[in-house]
Amino acid sequence: MRSLLFVPGDSEKKLEKGLTSGADVLLIDLEDSVSAERKDAARQIAAEFLRANQGQKSPRLFVRINDLASGLADADLDAVMPALPHGILLPKSNSGKDVTRLSAKLNVHEAHADVAEGTTQILAIITETALGTLSTATYPDASSRLIGLSWGAEDLSAVIGARAVRDETGRYTDVFRLARALTILGASAADVAAIDTVYINYKDDAGLARECAEAERDGFTAKLAIHPAQVPVINAVFTPSADAVHHAQKIIDAFASDPSSGVIGIDGQMFDRPHLRRAERLIGRVRGS
Ligand code: COA
Ligand code: MG
Repeated sequence: MRSLLFVPGDSEKKLEKGLTSGADVLLIDLEDSVSAERKDAARQIAAEFLRANQGQKSPRLFVRINDLASGLADADLDAVMPALPHGILLPKSNSGKDVTRLSAKLNVHEAHADVAEGTTQILAIITETALGTLSTATYPDASSRLIGLSWGAEDLSAVIGARAVRDETGRYTDVFRLARALTILGASAADVAAIDTVYINYKDDAGLARECAEAERDGFTAKLAIHPAQVPVINAVFTPSADAVHHAQKIIDAFASDPSSGVIGIDGQMFDRPHLRRAERLIGRVRGS
């Protein structure tokens, strides 16, 4: 999972286009990109789209429902769960408890649909509220369905009353940098993927490439997209290079051939256990994507 493309759930045209975008995951949106008057229409369109594309391997099809405090989440799940999405994206999560609550709701839907409990995966956006941002350590053991955590700046800026999320040089200001860092740490603690947030200037490929490179450097393994043109840029950065894969395999092989050793030398460089763990994560990502 490298790229996750948001598609407004009430747009049949964009949903179709999303299928051939090259994204690893489509995030069929019932939340912020759909107006209150269009929620019902979006639920029906999303369910039909899921039914028409059932069994589809790539992109995987997730639905972003409205948050658990909105009063809309249950109607969203009622509409889309019978059509068996691969997963649900939970926005404005306040803590691991919200993921546990969502998981309990999914148990009921899975029982109705006669599919195995736990089939539906969960992604969550964890920094869209102040409380959520302060609770990013609460996701370990929230649910075995949870596969990734992402962050958001725009909703958080609205709740804290910030006039901007970036300074005049384009750098995120402190609260948003904190939210970003806490997401990396929260995802690592929960042993799930850290997914970088959207880059909203969808015509600025150079800016997107720069932000992807920084995200990949810092520990994110995927990024949210809002436009199909962003997908190839994201996939290029988050696909480990042949060199990186070769190097990681070399480290794994060296430790495997000398299992009692805590530290080894390759080409004049020292590698110890944290390097082995990093190499194993990278190979795991290659196998998983
Ligand atoms: N998914 C699939 N297709 C998309 C798309 C998306 N997210 N965004 C644009 N497209 C399609 C357009 O329909 C258009 O198709 P066409 O060539 O067949 O007419 C093509 O890609 C080019 O789009 P473009 O004209 O550059 O953009 P636009 O003005 O139509 O749309 C946005 C701009 C921002 C409204 C649109 O990209 C969008 O809806 N993004 C997702 C927003 C969202 O879900 N936000 C919630 C999360 S923050
Ligand atoms: Mg939002």
